[in-house]
Amino acid sequence: MKILITGGAGFVGPNLIKKFLNKRHTVFCIDNYSRGSEANIKSFFNNNNFKFLKCDVSDYDNLEKVLNPIQKSHGIDEVWHLAANSDIPSGVKYMRVDYKDTFMTTYNIMKWMKHNNVENIYFSSSSAIYGDHGDKSIREETGPLLPHSNYGAMKLASEALISSSSQSFLKTAIIFRFPNVVGIPATHGVIFDFFNKLKIDSENLNVLGNGTQKKSYLHVEELIDAMLFVREILGNKGLNVFNIGPDMDDGVEVKTIAEEVVKSTSYNCKIIYGKGNKGWVGDIPKFNYSIEKIKNLGWKPKLNSHQTILKAIKQIKDQIL
Ligand SMILES: NC(=O)c1ccc[n+]([C@@H]2O[C@H](COP(=O)([O-])OP(=O)(O)OC[C@H]3O[C@@H](n4cnc5c(N)ncnc54)[C@H](O)[C@@H]3O)[C@@H](O)[C@H]2O)c1
Repeated sequence: MKILITGGAGFVGPNLIKKFLNKRHTVFCIDNYSRGSEANIKSFFNNNNFKFLKCDVSDYDNLEKVLNPIQKSHGIDEVWHLAANSDIPSGVKYMRVDYKDTFMTTYNIMKWMKHNNVENIYFSSSSAIYGDHGDKSIREETGPLLPHSNYGAMKLASEALISSSSQSFLKTAIIFRFPNVVGIPATHGVIFDFFNKLKIDSENLNVLGNGTQKKSYLHVEELIDAMLFVREILGNKGLNVFNIGPDMDDGVEVKTIAEEVVKSTSYNCKIIYGKGNKGWVGDIPKFNYSIEKIKNLGWKPKLNSHQTILKAIKQIKDQIL
């Protein structure tokens, strides 16, 4: 198979690339290195089945220039569209960020796929499309869908475009709604932020919000496992939407994560909490994710949120400190 991965030089991308290369697929990775980096993918550079192309996916002319020769010589079978903004607060501050990197990247990929008869897309969406449903268990059909961040809004718009395209030219349109995903190579997220802060000041750790924000966490290895499981069963079967996350899990408070991060170091560090139960505008302080649909298909995660956090803390500590 010839697989195109957009945004492949970030966090999730390298984990997916590794799996596909192990299965002897050919992988074309495009990224503009805005939030990802060469360091995350350079271990693949000596693999003949891997090719990296630097490209801003939100620039259609550039996208055609980079992809058309590959399409002509190899023919892309499927696209994994991961490119997006991953800095939610910056997308709230500057409206253009999510319009450009989260929505226009999707629009351009869909346009290019339509023009080039590429019929299979896998899309990394997010729990952010749901907005705030309090304690209610969030299933794929939960609504109304009223996102709290521009990131969530542009992911939702992307989902809508993929849905409508599935009526006209797509054979596969699988939308995965990720929870908070952790692991390495970390590029963002709460554990990554904490270790970076400690690297600068090992005596004080400033937490955004009062630490009671409680979320579900999934390890990136489990995320990839879930997506490839769904691909095996539902590839070529039209539009499908899945929540992916830990099972029957109440989540982990940011306070617990801060304490575990400090505990993993030898620092004598004071944890300083901010105010309110939101880390930033658009943050959802608590959500309760149902993964019944993917479980009914036969996939189940092995770790709960707390075990996931402990595993990721070890890995991210080695990456950063
Ligand atoms: N990691 C999570 O917790 C999480 C949760 C929900 C959804 N997601 C989604 O999963 C996908 C992967 O997330 P990630 O954690 O690996 O994020 P990431 O920021 O590490 O990776 C995204 C990659 O996209 C690239 N990119 C951004 N704009 C681009 C553009 N215009 N052109 C080309 N490349 C561009 C960045 O350089 C980066 O390498 C994203 O779509 C993200 O929204 C992630």
